[in-house]
Amino acid sequence: MRLDSLLSAMGADTKSELKKNIRKAGAFVDGELIKDPGRQVDEGCVVIYNNREFRYAKYQYYMMNKPAGVVSATKDNRDTTVVDLMKNQARKDIFPVGRLDKDSVGLLILTNDGDFAHSMLTPSKHVPKTYYVEVDDIITQDDVKAFEEGIVIDDEFTALPAKLYICDDKMSARCTVYEGKFHQVKRMFKARGKNVLFLKREKMGELCLDENLAPGEYRLLNEEEIKILKDN
Ligand code: URA
Repeated sequence: MRLDSLLSAMGADTKSELKKNIRKAGAFVDGELIKDPGRQVDEGCVVIYNNREFRYAKYQYYMMNKPAGVVSATKDNRDTTVVDLMKNQARKDIFPVGRLDKDSVGLLILTNDGDFAHSMLTPSKHVPKTYYVEVDDIITQDDVKAFEEGIVIDDEFTALPAKLYICDDKMSARCTVYEGKFHQVKRMFKARGKNVLFLKREKMGELCLDENLAPGEYRLLNEEEIKILKDN
C-alpha cells in the first residue's frame, strides 16, 4: 500500500499534512528514509514518522475512560463526542461499541471492527456489563431480589435477571446486567423507586477498565485484552 495511506489509516496525520511532511522530512520505513508519500510499502513494515512508530493493523481496539458530558457517537452537531476526544491520534473509521449515556462514565470500547462490535452487542450473546452505581435512597435486599428475578420496567420491557451487590454505605452498589437497553440501569432502579445519581461502567465481558486512565484518556487494547473480549 502507499506510505501516506498506511500512515493515514493509522491516524498519524491528515492526508495533506502527511504529503507535506513526508516530502519535507521523510519517514523511515524499516530503517530506510523515504521522501515519496506515494511509495508502495509492505503492510508488515515499521514506519517512523514525526518521531512516532507506526505498524499497520487492519483493525484497532481501544478502551476509553469516558468522561461525563460527552456523547457516545462519532459525530454530533451539539455535543463533543468520544471520537472527537481521539481526534489527534485515532484513525478516521473508529466508532464506539455501544453507548454510555452522556452523564455516565467509565469503560467504553472503540474500534473499526464492525463484526467484533456486532458480536459484543448482539442481544443473543448476553455479554455482561458491570456498573458502579450511586442512588438517592437506601438499596435493600428486596432490590437485590427484584433485580435477580428480572424487573418489569413497563408494558414492553422486562429486564433480564441481573446481579446487584450492595456496598457498605447502602446507597451505592455494583450491578451486572446481561443486555444493553436504552437507560437500562437507570430504568431498573427507577422501577424500584430510586434515582441514579452516578453511573460508571467498570467491566464489559471479562475486560475491566484500566483505572490508570484518567477521565477522557484512552489507550490501545493489548493482544491479551482483545482475546479476552473475543472469547466472550
Ligand atoms: N444503563 C444506563 O442507564 N445508562 C448507561 O449509560 C449505561 C447503562
